[in-house]
Amino acid sequence: VARAVFEGSLGDKIDAEVFGNPDDPAVLLLPATTQTKEMWHGVGAALGAAGRYAVCVDLRGHGGSSFASDGCYSLDGYAGDIRAIAAQLPVRPTIVGVGASGLAALLAVGENGSALAAALILVGVTLWVDQAVATRIGTAMARRVGDVFANAQAAFDAVAAAHPFEPGPEQADKLMAAFEVGEDGAYRWRGDRRVLGSTLDLPAESSRLQAAAAQITLPTLLVRGALNESVSAEATRLLQGLIAGSEVIEIDGVGHHLVTDREDSFNATLLDFLERRAPRLPLQYVSGSDPRALRDALGCFGTGVTVVTTMDEAGNPIGLTANSFTSVSLDPPLILFSVANNSASLGAFIRARGFGVNVLHIGQQPTSARFARRDASRFEGVAWEAGEVSGAPMLTGSLASFDCLRHAVYEGGDHMIFVGEVRRAVFEPHRDPLIFFRGKYRRLHFV
Ligand SMILES: Cc1cc2nc3c(=O)[nH]c(=O)nc-3n(C[C@H](O)[C@H](O)[C@H](O)COP(=O)(O)O)c2cc1C
Repeated sequence: VARAVFEGSLGDKIDAEVFGNPDDPAVLLLPATTQTKEMWHGVGAALGAAGRYAVCVDLRGHGGSSFASDGCYSLDGYAGDIRAIAAQLPVRPTIVGVGASGLAALLAVGENGSALAAALILVGVTLWVDQAVATRIGTAMARRVGDVFANAQAAFDAVAAAHPFEPGPEQADKLMAAFEVGEDGAYRWRGDRRVLGSTLDLPAESSRLQAAAAQITLPTLLVRGALNESVSAEATRLLQGLIAGSEVIEIDGVGHHLVTDREDSFNATLLDFLERRAPRLPLQYVSGSDPRALRDALGCFGTGVTVVTTMDEAGNPIGLTANSFTSVSLDPPLILFSVANNSASLGAFIRARGFGVNVLHIGQQPTSARFARRDASRFEGVAWEAGEVSGAPMLTGSLASFDCLRHAVYEGGDHMIFVGEVRRAVFEPHRDPLIFFRGKYRRLHFV
């Protein structure tokens, strides 16, 4: 994550955090009003890892952004900033907004033509709200912004008061970033208290918002938490009816705080939509039945990388790089890999009573290259121990090693398929794997 600063429509500072590479398609993530950019941390990281440039901003008067110099916290104020930020990004972003920031995005996009954004994702957004619910939420928001809280729990309870289905403590940090702790140990909301002066009057804005929605021609996704009482399923269907070609996704078991509460489901939903409706590159399907096409198609299946090993009859260690490894059965525990019929190691594997499979970690690309080269001295300088069961070499420091007895051997075209029964496994749960995808080594880091 890196820091970034944008200019709002008034020239005020908009504070942001960015994930991923600026050359990748941008996704502008707007927090719910009274929340801060930290609510997007997990989403931003997932988007960055998926080849998107995630820009998480603080709304004007929130978190690290400047207080609005005109004191305006209306939808138009936020919409102006959205237009200004979008213009400062290298490409038209997909815009994601929650609640009122989603309404502001709807206005910005709907009243500004399609040139502003590549796609629109509205989370928990409605144009019609039950008055009693709106009043309750407004009161809770006013307390959250205006009150001084004696401790973290009291501040958290104030967040929870607005919406009945609330995040577990493991997600609390992302929402609690909207508060700061004073020298007196008390928690205060971090922002301009004037935000309360322009509480959203949905009934008054509704016809203008409906007209804006009807203008939207971008790929649009509406995401609703199935338990969200302030955004009804019916209101979501009505909004969908206004936005041509828009899609609706409901996320089960969650209400208003679906982004923080169901982050993994939300990320999956977001990426599914982005890959379909706003793909990173123009899609280009290639088909064929020639060997090249088949190899390239098979290369689309990303794998880990292993070195499979055994001992020959003279007691020499034998091994080769293989990505044909796969798990087969849990009870009994079986795995398989295949070795080419023209492999110099094949005979040793056929004659052995067992073998080892060593899964390589992110730092073992040289080991993979070494065990794929035609070279008699592959094990020279390589640390290993004989597996307790099979006697096969277990390469020291691998991500995982499986000590196997031979279970079956099958012919498989120009390869032989070895099925092994795993008797013992060693693994290291923190390191990242070496990956092979589309004919190249890839390094992936998992948080
Ligand atoms: C990433 C990668 C995966 C490989 N997977 C396999 C495999 O599954 N089976 C196989 O027979 N060869 C595989 N190879 C090729 C062998 O490692 C390579 O041909 C090696 O030189 C064979 O050694 P040998 O002839 O001493 O057995 C792979 C190579 C690489 C780089």
